[in-house]
Amino acid sequence: MSKQKKKQKLDPYVSRFLQLKCASDVLGATHPIGNHVQKEISESMAIIKRLKGIILKKPMEYTLYDMCAGNALTSVLAAHLLPVKMSIAIDIRKRKRSWENVKRFTYAQEVDIHEINPEDLDNPSIIIGVHACRSLAEQIVSLYLESDAEHLILMPCCAGNVKDREIPSIFTKQIGKHAAWAWQLARQSGGHIYEDTRCLSARNLVIVASKTLKKSGGGTENRLIKQLSKEHRKRAKVLAKLRHTTT
Ligand SMILES: C[S@@+](CC[C@H](N)C(=O)[O-])C[C@H]1O[C@@H](n2cnc3c(N)ncnc32)[C@H](O)[C@@H]1O
Repeated sequence: MSKQKKKQKLDPYVSRFLQLKCASDVLGATHPIGNHVQKEISESMAIIKRLKGIILKKPMEYTLYDMCAGNALTSVLAAHLLPVKMSIAIDIRKRKRSWENVKRFTYAQEVDIHEINPEDLDNPSIIIGVHACRSLAEQIVSLYLESDAEHLILMPCCAGNVKDREIPSIFTKQIGKHAAWAWQLARQSGGHIYEDTRCLSARNLVIVASKTLKKSGGGTENRLIKQLSKEHRKRAKVLAKLRHTTT
């Protein structure tokens, strides 16, 4: 293949995105995305690939929460492409874009994900997090576990603190900190890790966790986690009341 032809060859996710009827509307609503548009598109397409099967099973029922959404490319694309009831992008920063042009979509700006009450999330819902860094990824996992969200799709970014009891450092050195971090998050959420080699980012691991899928083998474990987190919530409420009455 000549050098010029090589240059022209698009990544499969990017070319598939560009073939979508909604591509220009999605880019129009989220513009400006930044300097790495193709990478961002490929990351969003990797998440959409995982979301599609879940959402098509319950058309127009799911609320999708895109935590630490940034330019909200994934949640805007989901609102165009998939039958979601509502797609909600959440970010601590303000982002002025043409959000009003996207149907079944809202951008909740200046919202810290640590301030979200898990009980406030709609039911049924799906939580996604695309390249949320360090402890933000852990907070997204907590929101998934402590809420009634049925599914979590998380693409981690910069690694946080990998606990030695999760993966001994000797293994972390072998598989790399990013994979070890993804492993820890997958264990915490009761999910599975997939590598998406079509994604243009080197951080191309996707964690998929579900409280409803039985075939994952983690079904019983997931239900247990959900039950435990409900009990944890109850205990927290009782403690808060006690603190209130003793002061
Ligand atoms: C690395 S960017 C990822 C953005 C987007 N998901 C993407 O893939 O392009 C991380 C985003 O998290 C947001 N963020 C940081 N801390 C946050 C917090 N406590 N609550 C909500 N969003 C936060 C930042 O404003 C930023 O947009």
